[in-house]
Amino acid sequence: MATVYNEVEDRLIEELDRNTHEAPEEPRHVEPLATAEPVKSQVICIASGKGGTGKTMIATNLSVLLAREGLNVVLLDADFGLANAHLLMGVDPTDDISSVISGDKNFSDIMVEGPEGVKLIPGGSGLSELTSLGDDKFRQLINELSDLETLADIIVVDLPAGISPQAMALMAAAHETIMVITPEVTSLVDAYATIKTLSRMNDKVVVHIVVNRAPDKSRAIVGFQKLYSVVNKHLNGSVALKFLGWIPQNWYVLNSVASRKPIVLRHPQCFATSCLEQMGEKLFRRNLHWRDQQSKNYSSYFDKLEQMIYGR
Ligand SMILES: Nc1ncnc2c1ncn2[C@@H]1O[C@H](COP(=O)(O)OP(=O)(O)OP(=O)(O)O)[C@@H](O)[C@H]1O
Ligand SMILES: [Mg+2]
Repeated sequence: MATVYNEVEDRLIEELDRNTHEAPEEPRHVEPLATAEPVKSQVICIASGKGGTGKTMIATNLSVLLAREGLNVVLLDADFGLANAHLLMGVDPTDDISSVISGDKNFSDIMVEGPEGVKLIPGGSGLSELTSLGDDKFRQLINELSDLETLADIIVVDLPAGISPQAMALMAAAHETIMVITPEVTSLVDAYATIKTLSRMNDKVVVHIVVNRAPDKSRAIVGFQKLYSVVNKHLNGSVALKFLGWIPQNWYVLNSVASRKPIVLRHPQCFATSCLEQMGEKLFRRNLHWRDQQSKNYSSYFDKLEQMIYGR
């Protein structure tokens, strides 16, 4: 019985995978970056409706995995009020984004190098919340940030939870949005509210879902399916929800956070690491595909962001 059940689950996951990843499974191939044309950045936002779903844990680990593939990765901790990506990366920055907001420093001054060469832009701590930044300051930040586009292959943005206008704009301008949910109903409801807000800002919205902290695979799938059916029922046609993967609730994740080392480095053999590796692999392949398509017609994240906030 258990075997049959697992087979059904596996087939469901395969199907979700097939239906939700349009990028062809091209043979693994990456141009040597050192000699390649300068490539502009793909921006991936990691968001959630409810707080504490695991955004920062996932953002830090995926950044490390993408950097390990040879990509130049910048991780932007956009949680300006309660930043903690530096803790999960095990680095001790001396400055943070508040120095950029005050005009004393620019981003390259505050950037610190983490594991696998990931460059972290540390957020602030209780100094200035993203939501309380005035328009002028936010615009100045966007201008400063746009310099990163010449530096990184991928910019991973670790967002604060919730639907503040500025967090929503950062999300809506992204080339890719990953939403981290847990199987609990409160997380699903908040994720739905966030996706609905996003759908009002963009015509066609694609959201990649990670179900984190699931007791097991079947409950992760059920969580995804609940959200999928509500989105399909109420936002049909404007939102495509895709399944990126799931991560179990487990001790290894807690331990890696407590020891300030990304789990993919601290516990390379554990199951949660292999879940993250599968997601990293999908993102890497999609980045290759994205790069192919953007070489002729690049759409700048920061231009779109500015337009979303000020151009209306
Ligand atoms: N799969 C997991 N298993 C066990 N613990 C987890 C798991 N994922 C995250 N956690 C724990 O949950 C806590 C919150 O994780 P994290 O900081 O990544 O969430 P977040 O979504 O970034 O939160 P916030 O909304 O406050 O920014 C961390 O202490 C982490 O150890
Ligand atoms: Mg966080």
